[in-house]
Amino acid sequence: MKKTFTLLLIFISIFSSCTEISEPQMHPTDWLISESSESHMAKIAESGIESCQSCHGEPVLNDFYGGSSGVSCYECHDGGPSGHPAWSDWMQPISDNFHGGALNDRGALDCGSCHGSDLTGKIATGCNICHTTDELSTWLP
Ligand code: HEC
Ligand code: HEC
Ligand code: HEC
Ligand code: HEC
Repeated sequence: MKKTFTLLLIFISIFSSCTEISEPQMHPTDWLISESSESHMAKIAESGIESCQSCHGEPVLNDFYGGSSGVSCYECHDGGPSGHPAWSDWMQPISDNFHGGALNDRGALDCGSCHGSDLTGKIATGCNICHTTDELSTWLP
């Protein structure tokens, strides 16, 4: 009886480790690693956030609260699909999370991977909807 039980345990553990291995992974292993070319930021820089919505939100409602994947963009980002902090901080000059400070820290080219190499827009809006072209040119390298 004890032997059968042990065999059963072994069988179960082999079976469950097999299913773990064969479980298809939805995203690449490096999906959360900023520096990787296989990160979700790199993918977004290339093709935008629209493609995420079919699984991570309700396209009809235009939300990114999880959808069929059950993983909301707001779980990790207060600003949701933008990947940025909450709008109230991001737009607030006295906040530690102010976007002007982020530009100084990271440089225009980093922001430019999504907002355009000249900051006038790519997969995300151009900075010129709120700033003058003169301002933009002082930030560019
Ligand atoms: C075909 C459906 C589908 C699409 C399209 C999709 N995802 Fe996902 N995503 C999922 C599912 C399901 C999970 C949860 C299971 C998993 O992590 O494999 C997930 C998990 C995630 C996670 C959490 C990963 C972790 O390790 O915690 C992030 C971040 C994410 N997706 C971002 C994105 C982004 C950004 C896009 C668009 C560029 C996108 N996904 C497109 C289905 C999708
Ligand atoms: C499990 C946590 C997690 C989830 C869920 C998640 N992200 Fe991210 N995301 C990160 C990390 C980590 C970074 C890189 C570090 C950082 O800038 O915060 C990042 C960065 C980003 C950036 C770049 C922001 C910038 O300032 O450069 C975008 C855009 C982004 N995520 C979009 C999404 C979208 C769209 C979803 C939902 C489909 C999503 N993220 C869900 C963890 C997550
Ligand atoms: C929705 C409007 C809006 C958008 C879009 C926007 N900004 Fe801003 N930005 C502001 C506001 C508001 C301030 C604070 C008041 C000010 O300094 O003009 C600001 C200030 C700044 C500052 C500080 C300026 C200074 O002289 O101290 C920088 C740098 C900056 N933004 C960079 C950017 C970049 C780069 C982008 C595009 C990736 C961008 N902004 C997009 C509204 C915006
Ligand atoms: C990986 C892509 C990515 C990077 C890198 C990135 N952003 Fe964004 N950003 C987005 C997305 C997506 C949105 C929301 C949708 C849109 O504005 O088109 C957004 C929105 C914004 C907005 C609000 C504009 C609006 O009207 O919605 C500002 C301001 C902004 N980003 C500034 C910056 C600054 C400054 C940097 C660099 C420090 C930066 N972003 C880097 C993807 C990115």
